[in-house]
Amino acid sequence: MIEIHNIHKSFGDAPILKGVTCTFETGKCNLVLGGSGTGKSVLLKCIVGLLKPDIGSITFDGTVFTNNKIEIRQEIRKQIGMLFQASALFDSMNVFENVEFPLRMLTPDMSRAERRDRVEFCLKRVGLEAAGNKMPSELSGGMKKRVGIARAIAPNCTYLFCDEPNSGLDPLTSIKIDELIYEITHEYNITTVIITHDMNSVVEIGDHIVYLHKGQKLWDGTKDEILNAQVPELKEFIFSSSLVRAAKRIEMEGGSLEEIRQEPSKDI
Ligand SMILES: Nc1ncnc2c1ncn2[C@@H]1O[C@H](COP(=O)(O)OP(=O)(O)O)[C@@H](O)[C@H]1O
Ligand SMILES: [Mg+2]
Repeated sequence: MIEIHNIHKSFGDAPILKGVTCTFETGKCNLVLGGSGTGKSVLLKCIVGLLKPDIGSITFDGTVFTNNKIEIRQEIRKQIGMLFQASALFDSMNVFENVEFPLRMLTPDMSRAERRDRVEFCLKRVGLEAAGNKMPSELSGGMKKRVGIARAIAPNCTYLFCDEPNSGLDPLTSIKIDELIYEITHEYNITTVIITHDMNSVVEIGDHIVYLHKGQKLWDGTKDEILNAQVPELKEFIFSSSLVRAAKRIEMEGGSLEEIRQEPSKDI
């Protein structure tokens, strides 16, 4: 479990995070939901140590990360896998080498044969066992995300962070990527944190959702609770999504949410 306590972060005079307190549960897809510019990526950067919070603490399974000794922080960072917004693959390396890269960096004692087995296992797990020799420029957006996921989990990560994993993908590919992240999280008991503004993802994989608005947490709960949340800002955010408007309509007409899960909305 990751525990975030009273995180504040300003840039110059501009307060971006204003005392965020929340937890991200083990073995679950934890979503950080909110509109653009609300501080989601800044929160994620604080959690993984790319930014230093002004105030507050972050604890990974009982070990304090913020302001702790460098060796302890490094130990935690080794357990973190990151899926970046634009996949961030190395263009000059093929798919196999991209996935192998963190193993070379983080587990220098691993033999070449062990690395090969692990890379092949991870590529198979994301459905890309035949793509090891391809270059990133030869891949579709969805395939790049899959390679990004394989690379993130290659060193057996305990924590997985994904910043807008669906950005730039069509709705069907988005759902497939969401499902893959969900399955991997549950299969390997990973504490996964996904930044998103996509209500599709909430309905599909939101085990635990934290709603951020203007640098503050206004609500948290599950995907089954969110449609009945009584926070005005969250209600406005949810009902601006055409997917949810469609869901409400079907519900009023006596249908069920399952029906629209089968039928992704086109404009998200
Ligand atoms: N390094 C930075 N320096 C100054 N301002 C920043 C920096 N990073 C983010 N911000 C500002 O913080 C706010 C929140 O950004 P961000 O967390 O990226 O939003 P989002 O919720 O869309 O991910 C934005 O107004 C952004 O301009
Ligand atoms: Mg962002």
